[in-house]
Amino acid sequence: MEPSLRVDDLTKQFDSFVAVDHISLAMARGEIFGLLGPNGAGKTTTIRILLGLLAPTSGHASVLGYDVVTQSEAIRAHAGYVSQKFALYPDLTVAENFDFYAGVYDVPRKQITERRAQLLREVGLSGLERERVGALAGGSRQRLALACALAHQPEFLFLDEPTAGVDALSRRALWDLIYELAERGTSILVTTHYMDEAENCQRIAFIYQGKIVAEGTPTEIKRDQVHAQVFEIECEPLDIALTVLRDAEMFDEVALYGSTLHVIDAHARAKMDAAQNLLRANNVKVMRAEEIIPSLEDAFIARLRSADRAANGNPK
Ligand SMILES: Nc1ncnc2c1ncn2[C@@H]1O[C@H](COP(=O)(O)OP(=O)(O)O)[C@@H](O)[C@H]1O
Ligand SMILES: [Mg+2]
Repeated sequence: MEPSLRVDDLTKQFDSFVAVDHISLAMARGEIFGLLGPNGAGKTTTIRILLGLLAPTSGHASVLGYDVVTQSEAIRAHAGYVSQKFALYPDLTVAENFDFYAGVYDVPRKQITERRAQLLREVGLSGLERERVGALAGGSRQRLALACALAHQPEFLFLDEPTAGVDALSRRALWDLIYELAERGTSILVTTHYMDEAENCQRIAFIYQGKIVAEGTPTEIKRDQVHAQVFEIECEPLDIALTVLRDAEMFDEVALYGSTLHVIDAHARAKMDAAQNLLRANNVKVMRAEEIIPSLEDAFIARLRSADRAANGNPK
């Protein structure tokens, strides 16, 4: 089957700054693909190129078989986009906002009412049609933005950090909607910096300084990217333990993880006795130290560290 997205050696340069650096990707139809990376990594720039809103410097890409440079109108007709700053009109009502976007997307007038009722029901906003958007909570606004982006029944959906600043319950509701859409065959490219959410994607790519540094299913990434051992240490006081272990430069990485510490190192197992002795010598009480399966966040940190080392000419 033809892929829903194909990106081939794509690059975007702003003057001398390389924002997207030779990335390649492919997505199947109905797939939920997560693009993960810190602020400034190049996620939004990539999406804007894929929608034909920004011209690539080099490389090729197609969405639903349409070329991003020569057929961008067809892409916009068949793709929905919830941008990071999706512009809902606060002074207009829920229904007025929807109707406005349906018009922008050329939904035939006599279909708008029916489509509005259906989509507002699906995103859980039925009954709020006459509410002013400025009065809605953040989660409801994001669900309305999603309904607007779906007005023309797109086969491909771009979601750029759709859950940023949204409470946990609304995030869950949004993800349930994303699953339903994918099950009905919509292909979805979603960016997020919430690692726990990335686990909801079928496949993910880590993007860092414009480059894709890892790609695969969440399970593959955790297995392949952390060549190191990860230990979780429950101890107190946590802040002193963190400082002591970091200052000792014993491990590749020492990170705060909830109310515990995670240490990541290729030889963490062999170093744990010495580490615990060091902590005790600094009056840190160690309750528990055990090896754990790395989380996606551990994988991310480990991968970025080795990318940094490689960039500094010190591959390890
Ligand atoms: N129009 C532009 N001109 C110059 N630099 C830009 C422009 N748009 C984005 N950038 C830069 O490109 C980099 C990637 O930005 P962006 O794609 O928005 O990252 P992300 O969405 O991952 O946070 C950033 O350093 C940003 O400052
Ligand atoms: Mg962005």
